[in-house]
Amino acid sequence: MTARDRLRAIFGIEDPIIFPIPESSPELDLRHGVILYLEGISVSFDGFKAIDDLNLYIDDGELRCVIGPNGAGKTTMMDIITGKTKPDSGSAWFGGTIDLLQMDEPGIAEAGIGRKFQKPTVFEELIVHSNLELAMAGNKAAWPTFLARLDDGQKDRINETLKLINLESLTKTKAGSLSHGQKQWLEIGMLLMQNPKLLLIDEPVAGMTQQEMERTAELLTSLAGSHSVVVVEHDMDFIRSIARKVSVLHQGRILAEGTMDEVQNNQQVIEVYLGEYPC
Ligand SMILES: Nc1ncnc2c1ncn2[C@@H]1O[C@H](COP(=O)(O)OP(=O)(O)OP(=O)(O)O)[C@@H](O)[C@H]1O
Ligand SMILES: [Mg+2]
Repeated sequence: MTARDRLRAIFGIEDPIIFPIPESSPELDLRHGVILYLEGISVSFDGFKAIDDLNLYIDDGELRCVIGPNGAGKTTMMDIITGKTKPDSGSAWFGGTIDLLQMDEPGIAEAGIGRKFQKPTVFEELIVHSNLELAMAGNKAAWPTFLARLDDGQKDRINETLKLINLESLTKTKAGSLSHGQKQWLEIGMLLMQNPKLLLIDEPVAGMTQQEMERTAELLTSLAGSHSVVVVEHDMDFIRSIARKVSVLHQGRILAEGTMDEVQNNQQVIEVYLGEYPC
């Protein structure tokens, strides 16, 4: 029986997505305290410059918020960091030694960059606990043997993550029955099982209730320090509740950077963005 057949027998999954294998990560050099360097990055689509000479530096353990109008290039920036889009020029380094532009998407994920898209992608038919187990197992070929026996360390990690993502009381609930916000947390939990050093999170609170938003703010804040986190979001109340340093992206480049107060009072930022999304 192939690994896939056994998986199908256990879970009824037809074609599970492939998780990266976090086994052989290249060495991440954080001696300078900076985990991500983007320098002079530009990319055009059909002559339109979506990213235009972008410079962005993220510190190790930092929680950075990125805001900016629709079409400013925020998602494209994440596409470049994760290898989905290759820039026309510039450089992108993960720590001091890992050249992201020389790597493909799975390699970048393995190196320790996790990405959360806006729409949650969990295994709806599986219970919460199994979703985390599979995410921890990595490559689907390893799933059947992995699932046969979790050691105490692995069980502890899953339990810690369940607590962190506020799903401790729902471990046996099918992911498909969770609320939208709970699915988002589960997906963040699944990312965490792969031990990323840098997490990129695109519009996490869209569609969430106020209470879910507050819990998400606590979750992301608690991840900073042990992880570096880049959050893109339009919801200004949410941004204000988590923001330390905010970067404002406009027409593919950084328009302003600073505390929420600083960017909120920046005249250019008010003109291009905050006029539309008043604080
Ligand atoms: N693959 C692509 N092909 C063509 N144009 C693209 C592609 N990806 C992005 N763009 C364009 O690049 C610009 C930046 O888009 P991007 O999605 O990065 O913006 P954004 O800041 O994430 O906006 P939003 O806040 O609406 O999510 C847009 O004008 C978009 O249409
Ligand atoms: Mg976007």
